[in-house]
Amino acid sequence: VDRVQGLSADDADRARAVLQGAERVVVLTGAGTSAESGVPTFRGEEGLWRSFRPEELATPEAFARDPELVWTWYRWRRSLVADCSPNPGHVALARFALRHGATTIVTQNVDGLHTRAAIEAADVGDPAPALPLELHGAIGRDRCSACGAVREALVLEGPAEGPRTIPRCPICDGPLRPDVVWFGEALDAELLERAFERARGADVCLVVGTSAVVQPAASIPITTLERGGALIEVNPEPTPLTPRATISLRGKSGPLLGALLDPA
Ligand code: OAD
Repeated sequence: VDRVQGLSADDADRARAVLQGAERVVVLTGAGTSAESGVPTFRGEEGLWRSFRPEELATPEAFARDPELVWTWYRWRRSLVADCSPNPGHVALARFALRHGATTIVTQNVDGLHTRAAIEAADVGDPAPALPLELHGAIGRDRCSACGAVREALVLEGPAEGPRTIPRCPICDGPLRPDVVWFGEALDAELLERAFERARGADVCLVVGTSAVVQPAASIPITTLERGGALIEVNPEPTPLTPRATISLRGKSGPLLGALLDPA
């Protein structure tokens, strides 16, 4: 496949042909994939990191210093995500992954929307869908900061107002935290290894809605490229990956993923 930039019907057709013909596809998604569901992205004009400082909210030091502030922010994001549903982009990806069994969706998103779409896309009687690899964790889970026990969050609370107590671990009474990866923390080694293994073996890496500036996730598409696979990017804006993309499609993931992935 030639190296082509910019969106034309031709590019979209070629990207579709590459994806539909691929045997093994790895998909890397970021916050842009959930933008059409109403989940704010991190960077860009309306991004969360314009209004909030990551170091005050999304670091282990911030949690040690002011766990209530951190919880207030995560309760707000939890309530926001609880009101959102998978959009046509999530649905197209989930259905494609069901039809093409060797597809792995790797996401940096913590909103759980790919997982919801995967479960909702499977019909009764289908084999269990392969769930996406959630590299940065899941906002809908709590993890004990003392003993490490993980559980689904018990209550999806409404908007946070005023100070609240810190939830405690039912096993050891340690302070619970959201089960997400914060700045300065390592990703789950086993998940990461699985993601890179899929990237090494993929014919195509489809990268959707990520600014591709956060490592190690941003290296997943490079791994596929270096092993001789193709890189197809879907994003309304160029990213650091764009110059290396085999095909780079400018647009929103909802409509574009349907056009690329749905059966003819
Ligand atoms: P960013 O907010 O950095 O990037 C979002 C990307 O989505 C941008 O490139 C936008 O152009 C694009 N975008 C916006 N709307 C879109 C749409 N409708 N369809 C497709 N693309 C769209 O989010 P991430 O790349 O996911 O990490 O950020 C990576 C990590 O940085 C996050 O997982 C988070 C953050 O700090 C942690 O919290 C560990």
